[in-house]
Amino acid sequence: MTDSPDNGPNDDNLPQSIDASLPLQHWRLQTDDDNIVWLHLSVADSGANVLSRPVLNELDQCLDEIEKQSARALIIASDKGSGFIAGADIREFTRFNDEQQAFEQIRKAQNIFDRLAALRCPSVAIIHGFCLGGGTELALACRYRVALDEPSTRIGLPEVRLGIHPGFGGSVRLPPLIGALAAMDMMLTGRSLSARAAAKLGLINDAAPARHLLHAARTLALTAPEPTTPSWLKRLPGHGFLRPLVAPILRRRVRARARAEHYPAPYALIDLWQRYADQPNTMMVEEARSVAHLMQGDTAQNLIRLFFLQEQLKSLGRRVNFKATRVHVIGAGAMGGDIAAWCALRGLHTTLQDQTPERVAPAIKRAFALFQKKLKQPRLVQAAMDRLLPDTPGHGLANADVVIEAIFENLEAKQKLFRDIEGRMRPDAILATNTSSIPLEQMGQNLMHPDRLVGLHFFNPVAKMQLVEVVCGHNTGTETVDRAAAFTRQIDRLPLMVRSTPGFLVNRVLMPYLLEAVTLLQEGVPADVIDAAAVKFGMPVGPIELADTVGLDVCLSVAEILAQQLGGTVPEPLRKQVQDGRFGRKSGAGFFKYDKKGPIKPKSRKDYQPPADIEDRLILRLLNEAQACLREGVVSETDLVDAGLVFGTGFAPFRGGPLHYAEHRGVDALLQTFERLRQRYGERFKPDIGWTSPSPSAPMDRQADG
Ligand code: NAI
Repeated sequence: MTDSPDNGPNDDNLPQSIDASLPLQHWRLQTDDDNIVWLHLSVADSGANVLSRPVLNELDQCLDEIEKQSARALIIASDKGSGFIAGADIREFTRFNDEQQAFEQIRKAQNIFDRLAALRCPSVAIIHGFCLGGGTELALACRYRVALDEPSTRIGLPEVRLGIHPGFGGSVRLPPLIGALAAMDMMLTGRSLSARAAAKLGLINDAAPARHLLHAARTLALTAPEPTTPSWLKRLPGHGFLRPLVAPILRRRVRARARAEHYPAPYALIDLWQRYADQPNTMMVEEARSVAHLMQGDTAQNLIRLFFLQEQLKSLGRRVNFKATRVHVIGAGAMGGDIAAWCALRGLHTTLQDQTPERVAPAIKRAFALFQKKLKQPRLVQAAMDRLLPDTPGHGLANADVVIEAIFENLEAKQKLFRDIEGRMRPDAILATNTSSIPLEQMGQNLMHPDRLVGLHFFNPVAKMQLVEVVCGHNTGTETVDRAAAFTRQIDRLPLMVRSTPGFLVNRVLMPYLLEAVTLLQEGVPADVIDAAAVKFGMPVGPIELADTVGLDVCLSVAEILAQQLGGTVPEPLRKQVQDGRFGRKSGAGFFKYDKKGPIKPKSRKDYQPPADIEDRLILRLLNEAQACLREGVVSETDLVDAGLVFGTGFAPFRGGPLHYAEHRGVDALLQTFERLRQRYGERFKPDIGWTSPSPSAPMDRQADG
């Protein structure tokens, strides 16, 4: 709060007397005239507060001091502008030797939080910004909580997303505070809440604006009101006689989203709650035991790996300090319209150009629906609408920091457009294209400054897909690439630098997998069986449904381009669907028929015996292409290939990425399977030479320098 007074509570009346008797690096202890002890956290050398072992040990020492002083109350706050506490230090999760060591460390942290909870004096946590995982658990160990009523405040227990569940007492303390159903919902989904939503649930005592926040905390500290408890109706599902009935319902809900063999953590949490919810002391120990066990499993280790891969992608957007204010998007179709809406949602002044106002109108309508869904409050929706201007004449072009082209996928049309606009753009503006298949070198042939042309390849639907491929052609300047990546971060997407080669990374790797699925169909394997095999492996949807969702016309055109340039054939059923006007979900029918709820999948016969190698056929083609992309330097390193394919295609996250999965499975075993499939189905299963002789590729995002 002290380093960003705008984000945190106003500190005009903070106490002045600093207790210097403790040698503290991360915490600051002060006692004010009312004998309230203030504990400020600002973890040294870190942008955000995370609860590492040293930070927790210092908290333990502070508690010694507070107990000695017989303080009237304790108030805990963060001095970081970024927020209260972002969670436990995830790096430590990967360093335990075994389950026992993990268990002991978790118990230590729990004991410190237990000491905090057992203080005789009232304790209050002041929350602003991120309050997640261990941060929320620390706040739960306080008697009261107040939070800054701003959109930046997010309170949650997202541990399931890392393959574990709360381990510092969260699963023990949250249900009695807000009722079992609300608590389990928060912990099982990992979703975070705004200050207002948290106050409504009873998770915090007060959601206050910055000017009242300290006052609210002091009032609670000094008056120590009776802590609130949930109504009897909310407490009811937690009773011993009802838990055996509620737990299966919770399990069923979880099963609709995650299979137990892939994601064991939510199931472990339900078991824990069902068994021990009325024995808090035992539950605390069992919570630690369960988390220690989960933490050592493959799922948690792979999800933790993805967390760091995501951080790595984010860091690609931090190489230059570039902030766009105005964006001009040309082409208001399926992609351009949604890209413009997303930019406006993220706070940028956006102009949207197309050939006629009639073509822009549907995009503005879709944008309104998006803003309503995401922003909810009419004031914020209106502000976002004000940032998005239909602009048929293209007035916005002259002032834009970033110009994004998303017109028809046609080389001549794009070249002509670039000729028209280059002279009217600001000299320092980035020219980005959303092309999915045209090489940048060809597109930029007639540009005066081809170094500022870069690809920003968004995926459909823009609002859901986190990844954006930042496509670098031979002529793209390094500064342009770095700025494009910074822009991608600015609009809260994940940038991945890829070389301008056919299909870039994501489409190229996805295509053999989708085409193999169509070949299986052609051989008579029912579509629902093919999809089920992929989902069983851990894909979010099956390849047939995915092809329908992407659009079969789009799939066909990408498949043809890739077949032309990289070899291979396009299976006939795909061509036939497109000839018959069955483009997939958008036309109401493709390989499946669609209604408002989604695909209508005809069930295959009960006695149908699927071939045993469906999963291998699908997945190995995907792995092989990922390996080829690495070998050819489409993306510069293994980890980035994995990151791109998890965040760009949804590749089974708990497996940690395709190349990581291949390594886990063992390259020798994999090669044997390739050989078997090759003998049976032909050369498309020939393993890429990269499996046996990986060739280190040049860091591609710097290649523009030559
Ligand atoms: P679309 O056909 O839905 O929209 C194209 C829009 O551009 C139309 O509204 C058209 O009127 C407009 N347009 C054409 N020439 C123009 C010009 N000279 N000036 C202004 N507006 C013009 O196309 P879609 O699907 O949005 O694709 C756009 C680009 O995005 C293409 O390059 C495509 O390859 C790429 N892309 C498409 C994806 C998809 O799933 N549809 C995914 C990723 C990239």
